[in-house]
Amino acid sequence: MARVTISDLAQWKKSGQKWAMLTSYDQITAEIIDEAGIPVILVGDSAGNNFYGYENTIPVTVEELISSSRAVVSSTKNALVVSDLPFGSYESSPEQALETGVRFFKEASPQAVKLEGGIKVIPQIKKLIAAGIPVMGHLGLTPQSVHALGGFKVQGRGEAGNQIIADALALAEAGVFALVLELVPQELAEEISKKLTIPVIGIGAGKGCDAQVLVTNDLLGLTKNPPKLAKAYRNLRVEMENAITEWVAEVRNGEFPGPEQSFN
Ligand code: KIV
Repeated sequence: MARVTISDLAQWKKSGQKWAMLTSYDQITAEIIDEAGIPVILVGDSAGNNFYGYENTIPVTVEELISSSRAVVSSTKNALVVSDLPFGSYESSPEQALETGVRFFKEASPQAVKLEGGIKVIPQIKKLIAAGIPVMGHLGLTPQSVHALGGFKVQGRGEAGNQIIADALALAEAGVFALVLELVPQELAEEISKKLTIPVIGIGAGKGCDAQVLVTNDLLGLTKNPPKLAKAYRNLRVEMENAITEWVAEVRNGEFPGPEQSFN
């Protein structure tokens, strides 16, 4: 089976088929997510606080996300893989954005990149698309700007929603193939999803979007303090702790290794 393409996503928007995107930063989860049939995998800069042990996404480097992207691409067969461009790797100029996008495409081979921001980053988006690099947009709560936004707060309430609508229309006009809307009122997300002909992927943006994205650690119940926008479908944190505790007890009482794990 060939990988999902941006044309498939455009077709799903037309036919009203909803879909899901999940994050991955490593080989094992990418393989599992791909086998589960998730059509789009995001090598998000949420790797900062979910994989690399930083406080937030800001310190994540190009090298770290290229390394994670390479692991995800090489262990998946079906999903479209999108790599985040880290903070500081595209804002300066369209040329800087292209240089970073080209590094990702040459060194990790994802099928697309994602970057944060509205009208201000349109020149960057156009430069990437002109070079053959599909771009996913990201508006609303953009974690790379968390300090400028004054924290992880809902964006676009009241009049502020007009700016997000204007940004979304401008991004779509510039050619992004899909748009992430994070932590915005559900009515605003629904309105934008109806206005745009490209898929809108919500996270903390209500049911009215064309697709949904979650951080995989949150979905699996691995995150210690998950955000309100996430839902844990299992408690793998407790499962892992139990497995480790059981093994340690068996090591202590001499049950492990048993005959199955021993060799003559
Ligand atoms: O980095 C990330 O995981 C993201 C999603 C939350 C959309 O940008």
